[in-house]
Amino acid sequence: MTASTSTVARTATPRGSILKQRVRWGLDHALPRTVMSYAARKGDLPGRLIVESGNVETADLVDLFDAARADGPLHRGRFSFTTASQVTVKEILTSPDFRTGIVRAGGPLAGLREWADIDILGPLSAPSLLVTEPPDHTRYRKLVTRVFTVRAVEQLRGRTEQIANDLLDKLDPSSPVDLVENYCARLPLTVITEILGVEASDQERVLTFGTAAAPSLDLGLSWHTFVGVEAALQDFDAWLTDHMDHLRAHPGDNLMSKLVAATEDGVGLNDAELKATAGLVLAAGFETTVNLLGNAIALFDKHPDQLARLRAEPGLWSNAVDEVLRIDPPVLLTGRMAVRDTTVAGMRVPEGAIVSTLLAGANRDPEVFTDPNAFDVARPNAAEHMSFSAGRHYCLGASLARMEGEVGLRVLYDRFPGLALQPGAERRPTRILRGYDKLPARLS
Ligand code: HEM
Repeated sequence: MTASTSTVARTATPRGSILKQRVRWGLDHALPRTVMSYAARKGDLPGRLIVESGNVETADLVDLFDAARADGPLHRGRFSFTTASQVTVKEILTSPDFRTGIVRAGGPLAGLREWADIDILGPLSAPSLLVTEPPDHTRYRKLVTRVFTVRAVEQLRGRTEQIANDLLDKLDPSSPVDLVENYCARLPLTVITEILGVEASDQERVLTFGTAAAPSLDLGLSWHTFVGVEAALQDFDAWLTDHMDHLRAHPGDNLMSKLVAATEDGVGLNDAELKATAGLVLAAGFETTVNLLGNAIALFDKHPDQLARLRAEPGLWSNAVDEVLRIDPPVLLTGRMAVRDTTVAGMRVPEGAIVSTLLAGANRDPEVFTDPNAFDVARPNAAEHMSFSAGRHYCLGASLARMEGEVGLRVLYDRFPGLALQPGAERRPTRILRGYDKLPARLS
């Protein structure tokens, strides 16, 4: 009997009674939230990171990152480990001794977890790449990377520029505008839905699923949010089933249709895997890139000298995108579970232990970055950040995200050099996915 949960979006299947849903929420959110809040009140660092990371700037978490490094590369908390040391983050993310997803086998609550249908790894009704491990992950990822190549992404550059310009054409430069709603969210949404062969008329629905499901990455959701997330994922799952049927019957000139046709030794992805991949690509490709764009705009507003430097040296744009990703990463942390007793940075980590690898903390490790808290678009090693993770789960969309960031920002500032943010910026309430909900601006 194996019951499993993961730190990524959870299953969407309509599963049983409200009582079961209550139990799912209780075990996966209310209980961890109570434990984390208790731990945070006692000064526990992993607990404080979860509890204190909502609705604050990532820069305000620097003391916690520094505290995680203060007593050595790996910090042992009351219930889990955490690390903000880049060497140790890399060691864990590349180690075969750790896996993604939290797999709970047995234990006192196993029967209850099984009864409440907490048994599916990852989003939708099949494990996605993110929660699969070798040997399955190796085959799965090989097929997906065959389609998502750097060359395929570069071919999308021109189209991305056109989408960015079309979106900006629709804005009235004389009125205030929310850049998140009208630009930062629209650009990646349009790109990713084209990659997945989604009709323009369905984009609004996809946006609604994405926005409602985004908190699924977070720990300790309120009951109200949890119910909304399960409902959104359920609708998304049903929509994806129809969409994949449509692509099989009418393949188009898009990457998803190519993935439907891709095979390795004559064997391709099965239906559930295709659906999970499409779901992951949509969620991962949209929810993160919107934050990259928004975080960049907020940073440039605070650091006009850096924007002036980019105007003088436009060749620095691609480095600037990496510096934005380093200093304000869209993903705060990722988690791993030890699959056997192991040793990390000289410390014993027992089987079943959970480790939070603080990507945002590793990005400010003074061992790697000089003056790590300064925002410097010309930083020579900006690209050494960990915002796309490392090892076998390294972000499959990294080149796409970098390209969209570069094109999206360059086009925006070329078109509206006088762009200025207005009061009323709001952060997204999510803790792990970090960005803005609203960025009111005047374009000129
Ligand atoms: C700025 C934008 C992005 C950021 C910061 C980001 C971040 C990440 C991170 C941190 C992981 C690994 C998580 C872990 O190790 O547990 C990941 C995995 C992944 N990302 Fe991204 N991502 C971005 C954009 C994209 C885009 C545009 C796509 C679309 C293709 C994408 C697709 C994926 C996929 C499929 C995985 C799973 C890879 C695997 O498990 O083998 N991401 N991303």
